[in-house]
Amino acid sequence: MAIPAFVLNGPNLNRLGKREPAIYGSTTLDEIAARCVAAGKRHDLDVTFRQSNHEGVLVDWIHEAADTGVGGIILNAGAYTHTSVALHDAIRAVGLPVIEVHLSNVHAREAFRHHSYISPAAAGVILGFGAASYELAIDALAGLIRR
Ligand code: DQA
Repeated sequence: MAIPAFVLNGPNLNRLGKREPAIYGSTTLDEIAARCVAAGKRHDLDVTFRQSNHEGVLVDWIHEAADTGVGGIILNAGAYTHTSVALHDAIRAVGLPVIEVHLSNVHAREAFRHHSYISPAAAGVILGFGAASYELAIDALAGLIRR
């Protein structure tokens, strides 16, 4: 049976395709969602893909994942990556495997993007491969869940 997996996206990622294409590429979030669902199918993962601009909604979705038998989470928390103790705590609170994802290589950008509150609570981090970061994360999450 397919194992449920969440792909959660934070603020401004709904603007992908139009937002700073030199940094984030021209792929839209809807296209990334379709690619995640397809990659999930290859691994027998049932992918639910969501985006919110609100920190507390992301916290609620992490709790929901734990309460509904989701096997693991891929999280691009956007700018909340660099600010959110609440998301760090939520990940620690649920104990599910979380893979942190970024389209851009945040370490090659401004210093304020070099620190992540997500990384210390995450099983691993994939960044810098544009939209493909998400598909790599699905591969990694499938490996983690089945291990
Ligand atoms: C991002 C990187 C963050 O620093 C930024 O705030 C984003 C997108 C990425 O996917 O590259 O919103 O998470």
